[in-house]
Amino acid sequence: MKLFLSLATLVAIAASCTIPSPPISSNNIGTDFRVQVQNASYPQVHNKYMNLMVSGGGDRHLYVGGTPQVGDTTTNLRLVNGSINWVSINAVIGGEESNVDDTVKMFMTERGDPRALFQPMYGCHPDTDQLQVELRFVGKQNATPGGWICVRPSFDGSHEFRYYPPGNTKNDPNRFCIKVTLVAVPT
Ligand SMILES: *[C@@H]1O[C@H](CO)[C@@H](O)[C@H](O)[C@H]1NC(C)=O
Ligand SMILES: *[C@@H]1O[C@H](CO)[C@@H](O)[C@H](O)[C@H]1NC(C)=O
Repeated sequence: MKLFLSLATLVAIAASCTIPSPPISSNNIGTDFRVQVQNASYPQVHNKYMNLMVSGGGDRHLYVGGTPQVGDTTTNLRLVNGSINWVSINAVIGGEESNVDDTVKMFMTERGDPRALFQPMYGCHPDTDQLQVELRFVGKQNATPGGWICVRPSFDGSHEFRYYPPGNTKNDPNRFCIKVTLVAVPT
């Protein structure tokens, strides 16, 4: 048992890539990327990409996975002032509020809903140990900072993106919302 623990510790130490310094200070990414979802404990979403599904009024709804894939593969996202941007629309938090777990939908629109704000930060891929740029969730615009982005089961085996507010402790037993790391993968 002791040996097992020390080996596990060694593996844990080995599995951390070198984080460059200084940290990333800008909250703009001016080159195209895809958003990858990571949570190694949940293979149904881990390492899959965020796809954009056409919705009303030029909006796009956001999904990961699905059989067949829900939404369109989107490789030209940018980060503008901390906001995930595609062409003329941005990721915002609003609508489809759930009383069961107090989560709220994250989707993309050109309307002025509060934006989902992110800060790029270096991190290490949990499986490959490759250096990556993570989009750390800062908070909902004009609200108490904090909380996180999670994905919960939706139609055709996909998961949809939700905002889990700071201080919240509720969960939906039927549609558990998985906390995820979002990664900007250059395209
Ligand atoms: C980004 O923020 C800067 C500084 O606050 C502001 O001047 C600029 O207009 C913003 N750009 C966009 C596209 O919102
Ligand atoms: C994975 O999801 C679980 C459940 O939401 C969460 O507790 C855990 O912190 C997540 N792991 C990572 C690395 O985000």
